[in-house]
Amino acid sequence: MASEVCQVCGGTGWRIIERDGISGAERCRCSQAERSRELQSRSKIPPLYANASLENFRLPRDNPAAELALGQVLTTVRSYAREFPALEKPGLLLMGEPGTGKTHLAVAALRILLGKGFEGMFSDYQNLLDRIRTGYDPNSGSSDKEAYREALDVEVLLLDDLGAHRVTDWVEDTVTSIITHRCNHKKALIATTNLVDADAGSTVSQGRTTLGERVGMRARSRLFEMCKVVRMSTAEDYRIKRVR
Ligand SMILES: Nc1ncnc2c1ncn2[C@@H]1O[C@H](COP(=O)(O)OP(=O)(O)OP(=O)(O)O)[C@@H](O)[C@H]1O
Ligand SMILES: [Mg+2]
Ligand SMILES: [Zn+2]
Repeated sequence: MASEVCQVCGGTGWRIIERDGISGAERCRCSQAERSRELQSRSKIPPLYANASLENFRLPRDNPAAELALGQVLTTVRSYAREFPALEKPGLLLMGEPGTGKTHLAVAALRILLGKGFEGMFSDYQNLLDRIRTGYDPNSGSSDKEAYREALDVEVLLLDDLGAHRVTDWVEDTVTSIITHRCNHKKALIATTNLVDADAGSTVSQGRTTLGERVGMRARSRLFEMCKVVRMSTAEDYRIKRVR
């Protein structure tokens, strides 16, 4: 694609338009497509989710109650992506059981935002913390040193599997500082988690770790402030269902 010269702009990326008798330059469609391809390739979306979209997210036709509930989830995610960034809350927090499609939907939303020209990064929570930690080691590579800055500054951060890590003060401080920084700067955060929270409508049964316990009450409070919370009400694991 990139090697073909665009018929509209001749490869300059700009085209002349005339509006009310005044001519000006406007970004050509081809450069928007080029930018969105570049953003996709830098986004670190794992290969398994490279094609995840709202269109290929299936609703369970065999279970009307689950179909309705998941349909509402899909609608919420779709309007978040469509309206972004003109939103009251810049973030999205997907909560639910394993295999219910949280990462799929989070990536689908992220890919729409990349298509709109926003810069976004997928990061696995555990992996991000590991990279930040090795980044403090003077012998570590520069990419690990950048991990923390990137998590603070990227326009849209997808934090996958938030809280999937044992708690140490270091982890709590790091997560709080990332979330606080992003919240203060009104930067988008799309997060997924298996953790439960009574205020998000989860049933908090004995022995289940809560969001607050894992990430700390300060980070939890900010997550609710900056994110539209979406709870996956179905508990059916799509990974298991698929092989049945
Ligand atoms: N409704 C669905 N339609 C199509 N594919 C789905 C659907 N739900 C899940 N999948 C697929 O099933 C797999 C598991 O889903 P996903 O990884 O999004 O689950 P998850 O909720 O993030 O689970 P975990 O909590 O274990 O991270 C993925 O390959 C995903 O693309
Ligand atoms: Mg997941
Ligand atoms: Zn062009």
